[in-house]
Amino acid sequence: MSTVIEDVRARKIFNSRGEATIEVEITTIDGFGAASAPSGASKGKAEAIAYPPGGVEEAVRKVEELIAPELIGLNADEQEDIDNILHELDGTKNFMKIGGNTAYAVSLAAADAAANSYGMPLFQYLGGYLACNMPYPLGNVLGGGKHALGKVPDMQEFLVLPIGAPNFIAAAEANIRIHRRVKDLLIRVDPYFTGGRGDEGAWAPNISNEGALEVVSKACEEVSNEIGFKCRVGLDVASSSLWDLNRQRYVYANEGVERDSGEQLEYILGLIKKYNLIYVEDPFHEDDFESFSELTSKVKGCLICGDDLFVTNEERLNAGVSEGAGNAIIIKMNQVGTLTDTWKTTRLAKESGYVPVVSHRSGETTSFHIAHLAVGFGCPIIKTGVAGGERIAKINELVYIEEILGDRARMARIKI
Ligand code: PGA
Ligand code: ZN
Repeated sequence: MSTVIEDVRARKIFNSRGEATIEVEITTIDGFGAASAPSGASKGKAEAIAYPPGGVEEAVRKVEELIAPELIGLNADEQEDIDNILHELDGTKNFMKIGGNTAYAVSLAAADAAANSYGMPLFQYLGGYLACNMPYPLGNVLGGGKHALGKVPDMQEFLVLPIGAPNFIAAAEANIRIHRRVKDLLIRVDPYFTGGRGDEGAWAPNISNEGALEVVSKACEEVSNEIGFKCRVGLDVASSSLWDLNRQRYVYANEGVERDSGEQLEYILGLIKKYNLIYVEDPFHEDDFESFSELTSKVKGCLICGDDLFVTNEERLNAGVSEGAGNAIIIKMNQVGTLTDTWKTTRLAKESGYVPVVSHRSGETTSFHIAHLAVGFGCPIIKTGVAGGERIAKINELVYIEEILGDRARMARIKI
């Protein structure tokens, strides 16, 4: 089986928001791989820059004129070398010159092509024969913030985690059922609800943050009782979007409330207790490691997850680990660019007792690769939405993976 790269091509395609994005195809002597990049709406300041100044067109040109000549003739399975070349060609810390999304598409297409050349599913190529733990899907069922318009909740995502599910397909079905139940309950609360949804397919109603928590908790409880296993509620506060630097306050504009850091801490602690939350992402803005540490030390049995805080960056996670900031980390490969960097951050998370949560972005393509990253890297949770073609593409891929694994498949263990 030869993984020698014969050709590297790039093109402009579109994501679920209709924005331009990049797709890269890599052909080897014995195989073929492709990957396309997602994009965020509530990005962290410390993320890789998605595109060079000339946008997707310039990124496509850079792949064909600059990157392809360096990769042709190499083996697609020399992942670290390929990723080093991407760093060298760029020369900046945050992929300003070639774009983090360009690096993402090339790096992942190389892995995809290598797996295909060996005739192996990507998750097995990445994780080996023993990679057989299925992640729990963390599903966005109601949302607001930067993912929707109008008088939606200020908090970005109200999530569910089917923690008692015996297998992946049952877990996926539970989330779908809760998503539907949330809609039924919303119609009762607001007869004018239009059925509108945000960027990730979550319902986007005119409701307060606590109103949303009440509805999602009720839906979760009802469905848990019907299906016979436990589903619990989580939140992505996406607090960097609420933080007003000048006023030093979190501004909940639709709710008409402001909270300073201390009040935010008390507020989040109260919500964790009242709604028995299992997961809270970005409860504080992206530079507030200290509040993350304080909250983490005060809660038990709840994942405190850093997204904008860590941006899948090993150095930032290292800083968090030494301060005890959080106990979980969002893994979004395009925040950091390459597969090698993503794997290093995931490895540090596991070594440090942080739960790695592989995640989609609000702007997605129909690409399914993150399903393979979750299983291949042994991440016990995947956050990838519940409804919408680009979200279901990942869920369905995990259904296939569970089928491929057969008797060897097990639900992963989440250490909280
Ligand atoms: P983004 O947000 O993909 O729009 O950046 C998703 C998240 O905050 O988890
Ligand atoms: Zn987030």
